[in-house]
This record gives sequence, structure tokens and C-alpha cells, in this order.
Amino acid sequence: MCGIIGYIGNKPATPILIEGLRRLEYRGYDSAGIAVIENDAVCRVRMPGKVEKLAAKIAQHQFEGTIGIGHTRWATHGKPSEANAHPHANGDESIMLIHNGIIENHQSLCSQLTGRGYHFTSETDTEVMAHLIDDAYRGDLVQAVKQALGQVTGTYGLVVMHTRHPDQLVAARRGSPMVLGVGDGEMLLASDVSAFLRLTNKVVYLEDDDIVSVTTKDFTIDTLAGEQVQRDAEPIEWQDNAADLEGFPHYMLKEIFEQPETITNAIRGRLVESEGMAHFGGLDDVLEEGMKAAQHLVIISCGTSYYAGLYARYVFEKLTDLIVEVEIASEMRYRKTNIRPGTVVLAISQSGETADTVAAMREAERKGALLLGLVNVVGSTISRMTKAGVYNHGGPEIGVASTKIFISQCCILAMMALLHGRFNHLSVTDGMEVVNGLMRLPDHIHRVLKEANHIHAIAAKYAQANNFLFIGRKYNYPMALEGALKLKEISYIHAEGCAAGEMKHGFIAMIDENFPTVCLATRDTTYEKTVSNMQEIKSRNGRIIAIATEGDDEIGDIADDVIYTPATLDFLQPIPAVVALQLFAYYCAMERGCDIDQPRNLAKSVTVE
Ligand code: F6R
Repeated sequence: MCGIIGYIGNKPATPILIEGLRRLEYRGYDSAGIAVIENDAVCRVRMPGKVEKLAAKIAQHQFEGTIGIGHTRWATHGKPSEANAHPHANGDESIMLIHNGIIENHQSLCSQLTGRGYHFTSETDTEVMAHLIDDAYRGDLVQAVKQALGQVTGTYGLVVMHTRHPDQLVAARRGSPMVLGVGDGEMLLASDVSAFLRLTNKVVYLEDDDIVSVTTKDFTIDTLAGEQVQRDAEPIEWQDNAADLEGFPHYMLKEIFEQPETITNAIRGRLVESEGMAHFGGLDDVLEEGMKAAQHLVIISCGTSYYAGLYARYVFEKLTDLIVEVEIASEMRYRKTNIRPGTVVLAISQSGETADTVAAMREAERKGALLLGLVNVVGSTISRMTKAGVYNHGGPEIGVASTKIFISQCCILAMMALLHGRFNHLSVTDGMEVVNGLMRLPDHIHRVLKEANHIHAIAAKYAQANNFLFIGRKYNYPMALEGALKLKEISYIHAEGCAAGEMKHGFIAMIDENFPTVCLATRDTTYEKTVSNMQEIKSRNGRIIAIATEGDDEIGDIADDVIYTPATLDFLQPIPAVVALQLFAYYCAMERGCDIDQPRNLAKSVTVE
């Protein structure tokens, strides 16, 4: 969602802010702006639309200031417009502020401030913060920010600067990420590290209720409650080049092609071939209570991560005796659930910042569950809320539509099922078979990637359809949902995923020659049933694209087009299959001329509920 970058140092801030905003574009936004302090005054430029447009407008000026803040806004309160874009200011524009999150009590604060003569110029919830800080300011900016934050309810990651303090940035967080990058004679603040990785990889992760005061050389952190805290800078592993396109036209395609490596990174050092076993250093502390003894596992997540959870349920059921439930986080948090002490709750999240997942975890914690996490972004909110967990080690995922981390989640979840299974009834030979299947996955995915041109040709044939159905059974059912989600997210084609057996209970009414169906028909115990569903579609003149297992020559008699994926263990087959669906969605979107890496209305990290 919204992106934050702040800079204080010895170089002109503007190019650093603009480059930072470019690196944050993937989070999703609809307006952008920067403000720089120069000669004790503020230069501010904001506008709706892309960072490129903002950069072109700024190029007309020669801003030399070495302190500044920049923001990409994803509209929540008020439409994308110049007035609503950040940075927001107090009346005399001495205070500038950028903010991610939502100030829930902004309306009552706004009425109070209006009563005291403050004048508002935007429809946003953020602006109230600028006036609150103005109201509280008595010469000490940290103190004023603290006092202002004491009055707000909601979530925030914010950075503030004041013309009377041209050598200081102040930042704070609650429920919205904020990291400090420590450079040589320069400091950066950002909502995620990719905004400044090219300048420094030394990072301090701020905690909720931290307030940090930053100068070019130093920083001090204290809390809203007034306690001084010590947080050290840690080096992070992610390479800046992970955020480059490396010759691919889009991050999404680059990330799809990275998937063999993503899987290698996910399984590296975690599989013990000779014992048919998996091992995760991050779970060592909870092995007894969490992995050996657990009987009830609840998986919580949203969107694509939720589909990874649905897939995991089938795999856990195959390899273990665990009772597994999978919950959409935004629903679970409002339900009366059977989570109790002894329940293991596993949160899955690429970003580690998804507000609904965070809220559901808080509920689960309240009910005494053991909280585990499967997260990609190191140091993110969810990774720090859990008692133990596993990182994807997938590097930054920039494409808004998740691809490589979904694949990584599926592999790691299968490994977690293997771990639990081997502690219980799963035999060493069965375990070895699973290990072997997982180790061959990178090669299987390579083989699907080699089919990219063939998949592109099929996509070109169908890209003008307005509707699609995706069907699959058992392990392939979550992949049908994921295939439909990928297609609608980036191509804006209406697509529905359904369990193949459910088709005849309603979905089939939609089928005609203009309503194609993607059938996941890889070889497993449900194959024959899925083929019957394909026959039903065929009888109603529906066109069919089949994802089938290599060697299945008969399927071409029913399907109009076939994409083959390599044969492997039944529950691993959907993983190469979903790669074919990602490519299909990508090429459909390309044929339709869509903005693939920044699809409309979507955000990479959904930090509002
Ligand atoms: C879809 C997609 C979203 C996310 C969802 C959860 O391609 O990326 O559906 O999966 O917003 O995000 P995380 O995994 O960051 O919690």
C-alpha cells in the first residue's frame, strides 16, 4: 500500500527520494509527492498518478536540500488528487508529514481542531496529524509528535520534518512498518527496505510505539511511554539487484522465471534425505509443543497466501493425522472459533504486514494458541509477533500479483507436513519419497518455463474472452482458485475458480462457446472425475484449456488446448501446474495491454483492514 521514504544526509535529497518512490511503486499507489527543506523553507510537489509524472514535474526545479520526505499514496480517505496526496502540512507549511495507516478518530479530532481555528485543505485522515503536531509544538519536535500521537487511535507509520529543525527527521510506528537505514553520513527512513537498499543494508526495525529522532549521523529511540530504548542496526541479506528487472519486461515475469531458484532457497538445508525428514532452525524452540505434540492446526492468511493454506490442508491430511483448519484472516477474527491452548496457529504472509492477518493473530494469541509464522519479509510485523517460524528466503517480491512466494509457501508447507508426519506415523521410505519429490521440483518448474512460448500462444488465442472458469479437484482445487485470482488481478478478465465437483451445482450454467474453462487435470486419484467434468463442459460447447501430466495423450481428444507439466508425486503436481497458470495470466494481461506490475486498485502489502 502507501510507501514512505525519508532522507537526511549530505547529498541532495530529491533524487534519492524519487528513486526510493520508484522502488516502492510495486506496493500499489495512485498519487505521489515529496517535500524538501531548503533555505529554511519547504519545497513540496504532489500529484495524482505515477512517480514518473512527479519526477518530470520536479525536474523543472533545482532542489538542493539534503533533508526530505516522499510518499506514494493508495487512496482510502478521499480520491487521488493533489490536495489529498502526501506530504501533508500544517497551516504555515512549517511542518510536513507523510503517513501510512489510518487515523480512526480523525473526524472527532478534526472537529476539535476546527473549533480551535485550524483549517483543513484535504479529505484525508492524515492531515489531522500535521495540525495536532502544530498544536502541541513548543520547540521540541519529538515531544510534539509524542503528544499528538497520544491523542490518535488507529495505525501509523509516519515521518515528520519541521523547517525549524532542518537537521532532524522524526518517525514513529504503530501497526504499520517503519525501518531506519543507517548509512555513512546519511540516514533513511522507509516503509520497506527496498526503498533504500542501494544505499545501505544496515537496518534498524522499529517496533510499535517507537519514536525515533534521526540526524545525519545518529539516531535515538524512545517509546510513546517515554522509555529510552536501544535497537541495533542489523545487516540484511537481500541484494539490491533483486529489485532490478534484469532484462525482463516486468517483475512478475522475472519472478515467475526465478521460481526454480526460489524453491531451491526454500528447501536449502531443510531436507534430510537419508532420514526422509525436514528440519527448520526457526521451529527448534517449539518442536515438542508445536510440531510433535500438536493435534489441531489452524492456518490463517489472506488472498494468495490463503490458497497456499488451502493447499497445505490437503498435504497435511495426506502426510499427518493433524486436524487442519484454514481460515480467511478477515473472517476468523470475528468468528467464535475453537482455538484454545494447545492449538497451533500458523499465519502465512508474504509481506508479514497484512492487517487482517495481524488482527486474527492477536485474537488467536488471546485465546492461548501457539503462534507460528511463515513469512517472506524478514523483521516484518508478523514475523515478530510469532513465537517461532519459518522464512521463505525468497528475496523481495515486487510484482503485485504474488507468484514466487506462493510457490515457496506451498513447498515449505509441504515440508512442515513432512516434519509433523515423520514425528508421527509417516515411514522413513514415504518420507524419502517426499524429500525426493521436493528436490526435483526446481527441475520440474524449469520444464514448465520452457513452455512459455506455447503458453503465450494459447493465451493470445483466449485473451479477448470476458469470462473464465478454473476447475480442479483435491490438491488442484486451491490452484484453480489461485489461477482465477491471478488472471483477474492482472488482466481484469472476470474469472472464477471452483472445485470441479461443484461445477454441476451451479457454475455450469455459465458455460457456452464464449466462456472458456481452464481444467487442472493432472494425474491423481481424482483424474477420471475431472475428465468427466471436462466432458460435461464439452457437451455444452465450452472451450477447454487443460493442464495435464506429460504423457497423457488422450486428454487432447477433449481439450481444445493442452499445457503439459511433468509427472511427480500427486500432491506436488499442482506446483508446476500453477506455474503454467501464472504464465497464462501474465500473457493474457500482456495481450490486453495491462499494467502488469501495478494492476489498478491493488496494493502489494495490505495494511488496512
Ligand atoms: C495476490 C496477492 C494477495 C496477497 C494477500 C495477502 O496475488 O498477492 O492476494 O496474497 O494480500 O498478502 P500477504 O501474503 O502479504 O499477507
